[in-house]
Amino acid sequence: MTAKLIDGISIAANLKSDIKKAVDQRLKDGKRAPGLAVILVGGDPASKLYVNKKRQSCEEVGFISKSFDLPAITSQAELIALVDKLNNDDEIDGILVQLPLPAHLDDKEVINTIRPDKDVDGFHPYNMGRLVQRMPMLRPCTPKGILTLLQSTGVDPKGLEAVVVGASNIVGRPMSLELLLAGCTVTTCHRFTRNLEDHVRRADLLVVAVGKPKFIPGEWVKPGSIVIDVGINRGDDGKLSGDIGFDDAVERAAWITPVPGGVGPLTVATLLENTLIAAQELHH
Ligand code: GUN
Repeated sequence: MTAKLIDGISIAANLKSDIKKAVDQRLKDGKRAPGLAVILVGGDPASKLYVNKKRQSCEEVGFISKSFDLPAITSQAELIALVDKLNNDDEIDGILVQLPLPAHLDDKEVINTIRPDKDVDGFHPYNMGRLVQRMPMLRPCTPKGILTLLQSTGVDPKGLEAVVVGASNIVGRPMSLELLLAGCTVTTCHRFTRNLEDHVRRADLLVVAVGKPKFIPGEWVKPGSIVIDVGINRGDDGKLSGDIGFDDAVERAAWITPVPGGVGPLTVATLLENTLIAAQELHH
């Protein structure tokens, strides 16, 4: 069996085209375009790349995009003051602080300062708590984007054995909560998990987000399953690869995401979707 590829690029393009239409309609109705503020602290090359993608995507759909590139030496107080200013900026519906922050900064305090109705990353404890309690408001972008990818396969997630490898605040944890909400039976694996292979082998739906190339051998993939690879690892040859051994996994799965071109484009498109939701539903 050779898996069908889940084409994140075209699914994200469709989502962005719907968002652009909604923006055009807002402008026709005499409302302003949705506004997103993107804050980058320091010059980490990978973060710069991601942030530029986010800013460029804002332009594509007609959002107002405000960019803040702060030096690595920025103080906690300065960063908090900027977030506070954006909290009170009527042109801004969403505030995104790219993570990770330089080590001297406290990311929890920064996230806690963002107004929950402008927290388009869905990382604020208020939004995380709403996801836990089955009444999500703004939902973390990568897990929500993966739900969109899943929908495109037409497979009903109810009752599936879902295994999430990785338990980070950004991806693994909210992913498990989203899949629970979607009706899966969810196992979350992490650094203390024993017998990782046994868990992975029984996954009808496997999501891997650990950030280590080929961390999960493709031979572990259950025949006929859905495989979602969140990893983006740059090899010495400059090529990108995921966390799963793709060549073996593709021979076993029914559906699989490529890297690049799978989850990545959806993370960005979902950020735009969240910003539109904030503008349409939370800010009148
Ligand atoms: N770093 C890696 N992924 C993300 C994300 O989705 N949002 C933010 N703010 N930082 C990240």
